[in-house]
Amino acid sequence: MPIEKVGVVGCGLMGSGIGQVAAQAGCQVTVREVSAELVDKGLKSIEKNLQRLVEKGALTAAQSGEVRGRLRGTTSLDDLRGCDLVIEAIIEQLPAKQELYGALDAICPKPTIFASNTSSISITEMAIVTQRPDRFLGLHFFNPVPVMKLVEVIRTIATDPKVFDEIVKFAERLGKTPVRTSDRTGFIVNRLLVPYLLDAVRALEEGVASIEDLDNSMKLGCGHPMGPLTLLDFVGLDTTYYIANVMFDEFREKRFAPPPLLKRMVLAGWNGRKAGRGFYDYSDPKNPKPMQLG
Ligand code: 3HC
Repeated sequence: MPIEKVGVVGCGLMGSGIGQVAAQAGCQVTVREVSAELVDKGLKSIEKNLQRLVEKGALTAAQSGEVRGRLRGTTSLDDLRGCDLVIEAIIEQLPAKQELYGALDAICPKPTIFASNTSSISITEMAIVTQRPDRFLGLHFFNPVPVMKLVEVIRTIATDPKVFDEIVKFAERLGKTPVRTSDRTGFIVNRLLVPYLLDAVRALEEGVASIEDLDNSMKLGCGHPMGPLTLLDFVGLDTTYYIANVMFDEFREKRFAPPPLLKRMVLAGWNGRKAGRGFYDYSDPKNPKPMQLG
């Protein structure tokens, strides 16, 4: 049975992007948030993205209307009852995720597949609170979801291989390139990316170079679209700090240990672009200025 009805729980930055690409691929999508205001905010951000695609000529106004018509918002988990697949993209806290999956497991019929967009929490630890660990896996998208081509598809030791293959096909249908991996913290991308980002902070702490020179080095020397400190601001320092701690707890390797400067910045609330400041000051968002951190 192809996946036609998709539920997305959490309609923030990631959830709204996932809802958008699933609706663009022709699925009927229900996005669920905890309040009407958050549902509205998520759907508005999708509408803005669709409008941008129309202005660029990537979609016609009629196509954009059809995509919007396939999306509905709700605050009730019960509305996800008829979904073939539910993708969760809520806050990165295990107790909140386990509570959600317990509730969803009671609502959704046995064939519904559950997929978590978590970047670092163990998929197995979420699957075990349900009666369907065989129909449970990770589906990790990248920010901004409509642009980034990669999706990590993550199996646990209990995931049914047929379910895994079905979700790999679903990721392809969304226009993404799926990569297959297993339930080890950080999966593929964060296992490689997080030590690199943490090393950039360590290089800054050690006075190797300025914020701008560190970023320009990796942009212009290695062709990265963003330097590591700009990318940290983009992903969120709090998010990276959280992932690094989870990875350090799991592997006990120094390369995953968050450097003191990162911890201090998170404590101060300098979490990057969304907070107005991180390694750069975003008072003028089009012209970020490096912060004085000394
Ligand atoms: N939503 C939708 N489309 C967007 C967008 C958004 N939020 N931001 C940018 N775009 C589109 C633009 O419309 C533009 O489309 P076009 O080429 O068709 O006109 C295209 O992306 C390029 O955008 P811009 O010209 O405005 O700016 P850039 O060329 O600087 O690209 C970027 C922006 C795509 C964000 C690029 O800088 C980039 O790829 N940065 C790296 C992002 C990255 O590494 N993401 C992964 C983070 S790690 C992660 O998510 C995992 C987690 O677990 C931590």
